[in-house]
Amino acid sequence: MGHDAEHLERVRAQYDTAPYPRIPLHHAHSEDTAMLYLHNLMTPYYLRNQRVVSGAGKRILDAGCGSGFTSLALAQANPGARIVGIDLSERSVAVARERLAFHGFKSAEFHALPIERVGELGEDFDLINCDEVLYLLPDPGVGLAALTGALAPDGILRANLHSAYARAPVFRAQKFFQTLGLAGHRDEAEEIALARQTMERMNDGAQLKKDAWTPFASLHDDSEWYRMNYLLVGDKGFTIPETFAMLADCGLELVNMLLWPTWELRHWFKSGQPPPLVAAQIGKLTTAERLHLSELIHSSHRLIDFWCGHAGQSRHRDPMETWDAGDFAASVLHLHPQLATERLKQFLLDCLEAGEPFNFNQHMRVPYGDPIVIDGMEAALLPLWDGPQPYAEFERHWVRLAVRRTTVARPVFEHTARGELRRFVRRMESLAYLMVEPVG
Ligand SMILES: C[S@@+](CC[C@H](N)C(=O)[O-])C[C@H]1O[C@@H](n2cnc3c(N)ncnc32)[C@H](O)[C@@H]1O
Repeated sequence: MGHDAEHLERVRAQYDTAPYPRIPLHHAHSEDTAMLYLHNLMTPYYLRNQRVVSGAGKRILDAGCGSGFTSLALAQANPGARIVGIDLSERSVAVARERLAFHGFKSAEFHALPIERVGELGEDFDLINCDEVLYLLPDPGVGLAALTGALAPDGILRANLHSAYARAPVFRAQKFFQTLGLAGHRDEAEEIALARQTMERMNDGAQLKKDAWTPFASLHDDSEWYRMNYLLVGDKGFTIPETFAMLADCGLELVNMLLWPTWELRHWFKSGQPPPLVAAQIGKLTTAERLHLSELIHSSHRLIDFWCGHAGQSRHRDPMETWDAGDFAASVLHLHPQLATERLKQFLLDCLEAGEPFNFNQHMRVPYGDPIVIDGMEAALLPLWDGPQPYAEFERHWVRLAVRRTTVARPVFEHTARGELRRFVRRMESLAYLMVEPVG
């Protein structure tokens, strides 16, 4: 057996023994706004093209679907889409099929097929999700190239790689245990017990223990944690420059990082103000350079997690900071479908009744920045739940409500209220919570 084939065999054996993730079939994502928002095709498509697309009728591939937990999120976030999942491990595929059927997605299709051979499906996909997989491949570049070949011309591919910087302590632990003969060579339960005993017996001051054991105290009883970290077969780390080189080799370009606000370089300086050395450069840096500086300052991201698409698909868009009143007036507002839910509307109504502020970010588990609160103007938001709103009409409604709340002279206040609405829309739009589509 060649080295690559042997590698695939070891990875397959690991996931056949324990399909990942080990989450009960009945667990649904319906209340997990953040998970659905990230798996909704509309989110990256809007960020790239400033157009609202529906997932209905779209073809979605979960590449390396494991036990189908992400496939289910894709199905729930994109109603009416065709869902296909592939995985190296036959047992994982069987669990994924069962999971989707359990939730009523009976037409979802699953195949035991390595990513490297995705072309055998003979199909193009509008959205490909490849979560927590590429870093396991013998050559992630080969896998990424295969996925690129299965991506529709304006399709979006979400993939991720382990960060060489953030995961360095775990790579050291892997090397340590491999050198001692663990990682797929004995019975797994025995390997986990031996690894655990070894870490417990290590001096608390030992660097490996401080970096790769103590911070994960809450997981020391979880066998999946050992499997996915110390004993993971084929794991590799990458940097931002390496990731961008891989994208360029495949003719792909970045759409955005999944948790993009947390990669902001400014974020790492006091009061968000970069010092002169950085400020002088920031405007001249490429996206890859900015992200690289960010990972060098603070490698908090275990994953380099990104959306990308074929090069040349990004639509040139005037930044909203440069929009004038006319641009706003000629647009339509769509509340992101993952926020336009009955559950969130009820939450807003409860806030209104209790006189409490409503914060959109409270519903996003992932850190998309400061609270988005519109103190006292909550009632003005309600029409967003009724469907797309022509901006001009929404603004009239907003101003009418704002005027009722003030004693300031009407024309002055109307002007202020319009400005406030534009600020709110810009902030919401930058996160695709509100999608602002130019008319025509
Ligand atoms: C960590 S799990 C991720 C599962 C799922 N994507 C998720 O995030 O929940 C990695 C999965 O990738 C699969 N895998 C690894 N190498 C693969 C390859 N070359 N082709 C297809 N699947 C592969 C494994 O079998 C495993 O199910």
